[in-house]
Amino acid sequence: MDTLKVGVVGLGYTVGVAKRHIAAYKATEGVKITALYDIIDGRAADYAQKSSLDPSVVCSSLEQLFERVDALSITVPNYMHGDIVKKAVDHNKHFICEKPMALTHKEAQDIYNYVKNHKNKVVSLIGFNYRDIPAMRYAKSIIDSGKIGKVYTCVQQLGGSRIADPQGVMREWRMDLKQSGTGALADFGCHILDLSDFLLSGTNGKIKQVQGFKNTFIKERNRIGGGGRDPVTNEDCTVFNAITESGTLLSFHTSRIGMTNESLQIIAEGGMLVFNSGTEGKLGIQLKDKNGRYTGPMAFEDVPAEFQEGKNGKGLVLELLKCIREGAKPERDLEQGVYIQYLLDKINESMEKGTTLTI
Ligand SMILES: NC(=O)c1ccc[n+]([C@@H]2O[C@H](COP(=O)([O-])OP(=O)(O)OC[C@H]3O[C@@H](n4cnc5c(N)ncnc54)[C@H](O)[C@@H]3O)[C@@H](O)[C@H]2O)c1
Repeated sequence: MDTLKVGVVGLGYTVGVAKRHIAAYKATEGVKITALYDIIDGRAADYAQKSSLDPSVVCSSLEQLFERVDALSITVPNYMHGDIVKKAVDHNKHFICEKPMALTHKEAQDIYNYVKNHKNKVVSLIGFNYRDIPAMRYAKSIIDSGKIGKVYTCVQQLGGSRIADPQGVMREWRMDLKQSGTGALADFGCHILDLSDFLLSGTNGKIKQVQGFKNTFIKERNRIGGGGRDPVTNEDCTVFNAITESGTLLSFHTSRIGMTNESLQIIAEGGMLVFNSGTEGKLGIQLKDKNGRYTGPMAFEDVPAEFQEGKNGKGLVLELLKCIREGAKPERDLEQGVYIQYLLDKINESMEKGTTLTI
């Protein structure tokens, strides 16, 4: 089978998620990195060196990258996604675009329409990679099997502490409404919304109502490069709730200025499932006994090998390869990107209006 030639656009200055894409491509058979490009001179060369790639992969323009690849990862700030996606399709290249798909639902819909109506037909994925955590795939198989029955509640939190320091961390693009869209909601909320949709919508229905709150606690930051301070124009933390068509209650918590743990807790009529960073990749499972009672402690199970394939970022790459080779429809396609963007917009609207909104 032919080797898939891949590239990465936007190597990284803040989180640098590109390094995960590079590592996943390097770890996948049948794929070869042939191009890296960043708008800042020297950054692609730096990443090539750090990733032990041949310096010849460094490109001096986006055009040059397109000449050298069959597919690319788009790992630039959120406001640039649409522009590069459209150019990728114009050049007939498959792509994985990082999340969130766009700044707003309207923009996401515009990108979707452009790709869908284009004469070039490419495989396109949005980087909802939390689905590839092996414990999440295992949890989905348990829920889908009916073993724990109807899900009553699902509680999730996701965030980080990287930018908690109000002085040392500069005002990054993700703290600007015009470059990021919402803040913690766009950064982390989109992952946990996608996860709840992935895990629950098939058995417990789609989200039908949302409500939430947000706050910006660090209101200004030092300007990158010095010369003053700039306002932070999107939120640091959110809490939001939702209810699905079948009555499952969902609760979410995101923070970019301090969070110890990513976690998921599912409580269902027949048992509970728990995953968090402290469970060392295992899935906590506690089933009720035949009398409907919880007895004994929760067991933390190793995740079976069949759910491990996509870990460490490989899931997106394997899905890209499979869809290109077999013509399969991606599970996290642009439609999913648009849907999650719609939820993000509605939740943000609910936060701004202080009301519950129907989807
Ligand atoms: N899936 C995840 O878990 C995850 C984690 C972090 C970030 N992300 C997403 O990845 C994207 C990148 O985030 P990051 O934190 O890695 O950003 P970053 O700030 O670390 O890197 C972005 C890079 O893009 C480059 N860039 C900007 N415009 C460009 C252009 N027009 N052409 C080429 N290069 C350009 C910048 O110079 C920078 O090096 C965002 O959409 C973010 O939401 C996803």
